[in-house]
Amino acid sequence: MRLDKYLADMGIGTRSEVKQSIHKGKVRVNGALPTGPNQHVQPGADEILYQGEPVAYQEYEYFMLNKPQGCVSAVTDPQYPTVLDLIDKKNRKDLFPVGRLDRDTEGLLLITNDGKLCHNLLAPGKHVPKTYFARVSGIVAEEDIAQFARGMDIGEDRDTLPAKLQLLSDDGTYSEIMLTITEGKFHQVKRMFQAVGKEVLYLKRISMGSLKLDDSLQTGEFRQLTEEEIQLLGHTKENTKRC
Ligand code: URA
Repeated sequence: MRLDKYLADMGIGTRSEVKQSIHKGKVRVNGALPTGPNQHVQPGADEILYQGEPVAYQEYEYFMLNKPQGCVSAVTDPQYPTVLDLIDKKNRKDLFPVGRLDRDTEGLLLITNDGKLCHNLLAPGKHVPKTYFARVSGIVAEEDIAQFARGMDIGEDRDTLPAKLQLLSDDGTYSEIMLTITEGKFHQVKRMFQAVGKEVLYLKRISMGSLKLDDSLQTGEFRQLTEEEIQLLGHTKENTKRC
């Protein structure tokens, strides 16, 4: 890999800023001044210093965000802050959210630059379970639970796949529920409740495949995934079969 790409990938600057830094002598490769921005370096083998500080190469980054309301699940947006704006300790510039949560939905969102993992989690054929907590209008009845389990018409070509709806509590006016679905249609949870005459008033994603929202994360906070979480997610399909 070219030295300027290595440093730019790791967020040291733009490609041209990095080139200037190299020309100004701010970079060392294995203790020596590099021959130029196009010098070949081997991530993991060569020691790269920028202004005397080691710069380790990370091919992939993985963040768990507890998404707050008000920001959009996009890389850029002309109107609203994005989930990427919240990740202020990132190296890679090619990060993206894995799937979308609505602007008013909170909770678990994975942010990475690992396209293969993203595909494993989102491809329709994978049926990765996603669990949501919601507060909805009205009282969730046994018949609603049965309807969610059977599948329902939400205006798509096919009925929804069986979903597990669990009533946690109700106060006579509103219900609190947990719902696990294995698809990711646009506004799916809201549309499923609409189909049984109820409105989602609050929605939060709790888990996606093997990945559970860390409940020590306040809304708006994020952390890197642990090695174990990354390994488990890599085997999401197998885990799904056990769910
Ligand atoms: N279903 C919805 O309706 N909204 C979300 O943000 C996620 C699932």
